[in-house]
Amino acid sequence: MKNRSVVTLERHIVEEERSRPEATGAFSNILYSLTLAAKIISREVNKAGIVDMLGGTGRMNVQGERVQKLDLFAEDVIFRALDHTGALCCMVSEETEDIIPIPDQFPKGKYVLIFDPLDGSSNIDVNVSIGTIFSIHKKVSDGADGTIEDCLQAGCKQIAAGYVLYGSSTMLVYTSGDGVHGFTLDPSIGEFLLSHPKLVMPDPPSRMYSINEAYYPRWSAGQQRLMQHLKGLDGEATVSYSSRYIGSLVADFHRTLLKGGIFMYPADTKRPHGKLRLLYEAAPMAMICEQAGGRASDGRNPILSLTPEAIHQRTPLYIGSSEIVAMAETFLADDAQGPLESR
Ligand code: AHG
Ligand code: MN
Ligand code: MN
Repeated sequence: MKNRSVVTLERHIVEEERSRPEATGAFSNILYSLTLAAKIISREVNKAGIVDMLGGTGRMNVQGERVQKLDLFAEDVIFRALDHTGALCCMVSEETEDIIPIPDQFPKGKYVLIFDPLDGSSNIDVNVSIGTIFSIHKKVSDGADGTIEDCLQAGCKQIAAGYVLYGSSTMLVYTSGDGVHGFTLDPSIGEFLLSHPKLVMPDPPSRMYSINEAYYPRWSAGQQRLMQHLKGLDGEATVSYSSRYIGSLVADFHRTLLKGGIFMYPADTKRPHGKLRLLYEAAPMAMICEQAGGRASDGRNPILSLTPEAIHQRTPLYIGSSEIVAMAETFLADDAQGPLESR
């Protein structure tokens, strides 16, 4: 019996590069290096409980959040896997306030790597799925060094976006604008193997919503009405929903991508611009979601249309099955524009 051909991520990257006459290999180089970093982080995540990699560093990051040891470990692994490739002109990381330059001893390239080294940090110590999120832009400014102009680009300008999910298995999901492809790590051979070719969100979607309901009192009137509707309490619902919330964006989004539904992180009176960051959380997930036939907005505007003004800028996020996200937006349309006033 002819066994199914095994498509490694490396083979997939080569085949994608071959299909692009303009490709120079620099982009493939970035993806290769990211997969190496993912394997190293996956190994550390999967034994964090054994070696001293759990817990906090005692530091606060630019976001005012406690930095976990694995956050910094992941950032360092990604930086060192890519700093010498000659493919990048600079990097942006959630854990570092400013743009990260490429060290002088290394050549500079024409891409920008923006990443959340470890997403879902609050779940590290309780052995719940966490992830890494990345976004790749092309350099737009003159000169060799990356500048803020190269980093503050709208999500629709992304060359590629992806995430690694360190869960029951380690998966890497990415798009470079030609569909979404999922790879599962086979630790016995250390290869990511194509397991989810051409991922498309299911239609009809599963009726599942994902949100931290503890913040209900801080939400807008439109968001509260939307929740009443999703719970069937407004007498209008034609379908019933179930709820899932893991608290790691990568895990909640991955489930939404595979099953359908909606993930929401709204603005609230305490976080008038929401919690999630545009550059390295919302925008990469939005590119993947739209490539898989879904929809992603801040409640009013497509995430991919937003041009950031700061590298750690936050945004509300509504992402998932198009019809459900569009329905959510109708409830939010009546909310007053601008940041929510404290009640
Ligand atoms: P990070 O660990 O990179 O700071 O991201 C955490 C984010 C995201 O993963 C998740 O969706 C959200 O925080 C959960 O926030 P709440 O704990 O407020 O629900
Ligand atoms: Mn995150
Ligand atoms: Mn993070």
